[in-house]
Amino acid sequence: MTIHHLLLFLHLAGVVTWVGGMLFAYACLRPAASTLAPPQRLVLWVGVLSRFFRLVWGSVALIGISGGTMLVRVGFGHAPTAWHVMLLTGTVMIAVFMYIWFRPWPQLRSAVAREDWAAAAVAMNGIRQRVGFNLAIGIVTIGIATLGLGV
Ligand code: HEM
Repeated sequence: MTIHHLLLFLHLAGVVTWVGGMLFAYACLRPAASTLAPPQRLVLWVGVLSRFFRLVWGSVALIGISGGTMLVRVGFGHAPTAWHVMLLTGTVMIAVFMYIWFRPWPQLRSAVAREDWAAAAVAMNGIRQRVGFNLAIGIVTIGIATLGLGV
């Protein structure tokens, strides 16, 4: 096992946790939770997301540090174009996650604490749209990294 293998393992552990968690939330939890009344549904989402977002911070650290280290070890100039594209799309994903963390996420928590279900639903919608966006570019990024599409 080389350092590169270890870094790749840590990188993929972060990717699986983040993208897999978003897929589960979007494709499984969201349709099942939509049958609940707003108070139960929004309280459930705060409980789910407070745990998931902690895992996402860990994934962001793993993906960024391992990806950046692999890139620097090979050298930016020698890295395949796909790696540069991955750096770009990965940075966009991290920026979108940070936006969620600093804007709609505190709005959702405070609206739920005030039992203002209309405001909570608006904040939740903002999170859902951005998680959907990140899920889509996450899947595209996995394709760019693995499919050998010549980029
Ligand atoms: C934050 C910036 C990122 C950087 C700098 C980065 C960099 C890298 C590097 C250098 C590799 C090694 C490629 C190889 O050994 O062939 C790699 C592999 C990989 N990365 Fe990233 N990455 C980043 C973000 C992401 C994100 C956000 C995803 C997915 C959502 C992702 C998915 C993958 C996958 C699936 C591989 C395995 C490719 C393979 O071994 O063929 N990366 N990444």
